[in-house]
Amino acid sequence: MTTKATRAVGVDIGGTGIKGALVDLAHGELLSDRVKVATPAGAEPGDVLDAVRQVLGTLGVSDADIPLGVAFPAIVKNGRTLSAANVADTWIGFEAEKFFEDGLGRDIHFANDADVAGVAEARYGAARDAAGLTILTTLGTGIGTAVLYNGHLIPNAELGHLQRANRKKDFEAWAAYSAVEREQLTWSKWARRLQSYYSYLEFLLSPDLFIVGGGVSKHADEFLPLLHLKTPIVPAVHRNNAGIIGAAALALDDER
Ligand code: BGC
Repeated sequence: MTTKATRAVGVDIGGTGIKGALVDLAHGELLSDRVKVATPAGAEPGDVLDAVRQVLGTLGVSDADIPLGVAFPAIVKNGRTLSAANVADTWIGFEAEKFFEDGLGRDIHFANDADVAGVAEARYGAARDAAGLTILTTLGTGIGTAVLYNGHLIPNAELGHLQRANRKKDFEAWAAYSAVEREQLTWSKWARRLQSYYSYLEFLLSPDLFIVGGGVSKHADEFLPLLHLKTPIVPAVHRNNAGIIGAAALALDDER
């Protein structure tokens, strides 16, 4: 039986949706249904806080007894958000961790969304026991990246914002899953963009493993076989739940 000491709540704030669940960290599995609300238009702090409250209320976990991890789609350094690619510019240089703690009336663990997904896959998924350099990418509204070396996270890598040579747009704007939706790309057209992105990462960093997360990873069979890389590339075991699981895992670590 799962004891209380192995449970925590994870909330994953994305550019499009805010998702949360109660997680069993002994096994890295969701213990509740996944609750999802749309990210409020403009993604201003007050509206995002209200949406997080709504997720916690629906989960029935609004009390402070159970550790809470919150993942956010921006650089997070010492509790401050330092960038805002798919959220309001208000978040740049914002004391976000304190803002959520004050607003929710409790401690939280606050971190970058791709980084926590990387932690989840290192502990419970595709990067378990992976030696050397693993790069997890989340393909969603943006491109998030987590860099892990022998299972240790090197936080706040923003490799989705690598600039394409002689182009105005960065790789995120051109190759995130949102570009597929916006431009109605076929799998093969998108795969050509991904090929260019992953080849460039491969050249720059010589990784040992690529992991692909984000909602679209459930369709990995449609596009991963179209890529030709020297590095193995696999879907995240926890797919789009990796952020929730990783946020919860780090929150529980804080309690220990
Ligand atoms: C942000 C990253 C984030 C990623 C995925 C990017 O636009 O800069 O911090 O991890 O989107 O949400």
